[in-house]
Amino acid sequence: MFMNDLIKTTSLSLLLAAALCAEASAQPAARENFNAEWKFIKADCEEFAEAGYDDSAWRTLDLPHDWGVEGPFEQIYPGETGKLAWWGRAWYRKHFRSEGNGECVFLDIDGAMSFSEVWCNGEKAGGRPYGYASYRVDLSPFVKEGDNVIAIRLDNPENSSRWYPGGGIYRNVWLLRTGKTGIAHWGTFVTTPEVSSDKALVHMRTELRSCSEDKPSGTLRTSIYRVDPVSGKPFGEAVAGMDTDIKEITDGMEIIQTACISGPALWTTEKPELYAAVSTLETSGSAADEYTTVFGIRTARFMPDGFYLNGEKTFIKGVCLHHDGGALGAVWNESAWVRRLNMLKQMGCNGIRTAHNPPAPELLDLCDRMGFVVMDELTDTWTVPKKPNGYALIFDEWHERDLEDLIRRDRNHPSVVLWSIGNEVGEQGYADKWHIAYELTEAAHRADPSRQTGCGNDNLWAAGQDYRFTADVYGFNYKPHAYGEFRLNNPFTPFIGSETSSCVSTRGCYIFPVEDDKSRGWADFQVSSYDLYAPGWASCPDYEWRYEDLVPEVGGEFVWTGFDYLGEPTPYNNDWSILTNFHDPEAKAKAEAELKAMKETPAPSRSSYFGIIDLAGFPKDRYYLYQARWRPELPMAHILPHWTWPGREGRTTPVHVYTSGDSAELFINGKSQGVRTKGPGEYRLRWDDAVYEPGTVKAVAYKDGKVWAEDEVHTVGKPHRVEAAAERGSGPVSGFGGDKNQPVPRITDDGLIFIDVRVADKQGDIVPDADNLLEFKVSGPAEIVASDAGDPTSHSAFGSHEIKAFHGLATVILRPMEGETGTVVLSVKSRGLKGCKITVPIENEQ
Ligand code: GAL
Repeated sequence: MFMNDLIKTTSLSLLLAAALCAEASAQPAARENFNAEWKFIKADCEEFAEAGYDDSAWRTLDLPHDWGVEGPFEQIYPGETGKLAWWGRAWYRKHFRSEGNGECVFLDIDGAMSFSEVWCNGEKAGGRPYGYASYRVDLSPFVKEGDNVIAIRLDNPENSSRWYPGGGIYRNVWLLRTGKTGIAHWGTFVTTPEVSSDKALVHMRTELRSCSEDKPSGTLRTSIYRVDPVSGKPFGEAVAGMDTDIKEITDGMEIIQTACISGPALWTTEKPELYAAVSTLETSGSAADEYTTVFGIRTARFMPDGFYLNGEKTFIKGVCLHHDGGALGAVWNESAWVRRLNMLKQMGCNGIRTAHNPPAPELLDLCDRMGFVVMDELTDTWTVPKKPNGYALIFDEWHERDLEDLIRRDRNHPSVVLWSIGNEVGEQGYADKWHIAYELTEAAHRADPSRQTGCGNDNLWAAGQDYRFTADVYGFNYKPHAYGEFRLNNPFTPFIGSETSSCVSTRGCYIFPVEDDKSRGWADFQVSSYDLYAPGWASCPDYEWRYEDLVPEVGGEFVWTGFDYLGEPTPYNNDWSILTNFHDPEAKAKAEAELKAMKETPAPSRSSYFGIIDLAGFPKDRYYLYQARWRPELPMAHILPHWTWPGREGRTTPVHVYTSGDSAELFINGKSQGVRTKGPGEYRLRWDDAVYEPGTVKAVAYKDGKVWAEDEVHTVGKPHRVEAAAERGSGPVSGFGGDKNQPVPRITDDGLIFIDVRVADKQGDIVPDADNLLEFKVSGPAEIVASDAGDPTSHSAFGSHEIKAFHGLATVILRPMEGETGTVVLSVKSRGLKGCKITVPIENEQ
């Protein structure tokens, strides 16, 4: 992970971890993964629903699947949604056998994009319009002994999203074969109403289901165990038990159980301790159903003066994330997200906002295990549309169900601390529509009285109206300058920065001259990485922080965004509101002309520039600016730009240093450029008059007068060779999140191999502007899934076995063949350069 030296002072070891399989929380024991061997066709015909339809000629694939990300990118497609064809109608079919012994059969779909309809043996069984909703279909009335077939139709409309939504059954699918009596779907609800270091009260509500004609008696036995954070599984002896005898089990009945745990291990973001309640429902003396609910013991509350976790004021250092995983598209993949969360954690991030929809359920499992608090979001729109075919179309009919299901699904996660009812909804501007916000808040409270609600708001007028009381926590999108007044006028209302900064940049791209005007620094469909540039309504991170420091009652921030994402390539998004950014008439006229031209010839951009980390997973400079602020105890310094500028000799080339120290001295070829010290409201150190001469730039950072950290960059030579480093899933990372002993979840079943490649000079230093074409060849038990280099304008198909390096780097993702072991060898070639080979052992993982 050489280029991802996320901690500037510590080198991370290569992680090739054999791993254990993670269990999702709050799930019945008998659920089986149902992802394998589906038939797929991107076409539409009524007959596809029929039981006897011959689908043998269709493509066979495993879920999760996103047909959009398979590409190709097309210049004529909207950049707003990633220049990929994610829309359209398609069918999936799967054949399976059943013993037909009268048991219940349920199909659980974590996410299908969108307007899914499900048939079983030719009979309509269910469906769900909202592509981000998880839902269950009861197949019991349709399943027969012997062969059965499920057919799922998706109808994903164009013009329905402001970002790349993906298309397909892009999350996991499960099948549950169970008895007639059991624990209801998402039927458990654990809260911890009293928590101290001495003891915790665990309160558990369990809803039962039954379609049995007689009303059996039974016993609900619940035992509580500690959970091993690495495997995610219960271990050791039970720490508490609760048994309840039930005279007659009826459908929908609720059993309340309570337990007291002494000396509880509390869930915190630094040490995310977990417990599991294992509930067994016994009828006639034997287990009818078993259900495991992973939970954490903690209190979480937004107060008018900040966010409190276990009674301790905790600033949320959060990021917003869309659901795509870069080159993997919308496909959920656990190992990819462990890798992503790990990078965020090392930056000091402790919070995620799931913009702007319910996440994959497993993302929350990872947040539980890795220590992130989550703002869990319902939707981007209520009734006022943002896109003609967006959620507004189905809001009236579906929002109650979607909200209730989201809460039932996610309410046991200790990571979830806030239900977000929406984002920048048009309703803010209409007083006669605020009742919707109240209703959503009330519905959320009914479903989960233990958590507060919030919403991302951008309408400053509404912040001064009664609208501000419609959710429990007021969320400001990009209005840090309003924090102070809000605080004064609303002494009893908690508030947060629900969306902050929206600084834009391209990794490795530096544009001169460096100007502070945030609308400069854009050229050739890229944005300069001096972290000074942002759309009109947005700002560089420093602007937000000045207000956070002035108004420390703000509960935290969620930066837009942690990672670049597919779509919304602002400022190359054909978005005319961008013109509000320009104050200088000349610059405005130029931008207007560019927008007009873009109408004729659209920009090539297909992914965002907002990320702190690029689409391929390489940190931009900004990563270290956030790390400097969010991990002040970590000695670190980071210099920008790189120092290889042939032709700039003698020209002004500003040098900025991001450090957790308070001052630094800069040296160019050993000559001091002076000491700079951070003043109030300053978060970076700048040598704006530095002059380029080839050689070495060194920064020595100080804290409290003592040397604290150093960084050095130097002029490099021409591309000479390619180098590669592999990472498989994850393992225990030292220095993780500031806590040496904090575990990282291990994964296997979808454990991908990530290979980062760089173009190096003779000395082995990365060549910062190298764009050599890299060719990949794999042998052994793995295949290439995707390649990417983080260039927002690249149209190289993600499945390609070759890609141009972007500013010296690229990444390639391999998937081990199921059940096979051996040695995977990836060779990387590039014309005129010395190639390389990297080997990755694939061992038996259980
Ligand atoms: C916000 C919006 C986000 C995203 C961001 C960057 O206003 O809530 O979804 O669009 O701007 O453009």
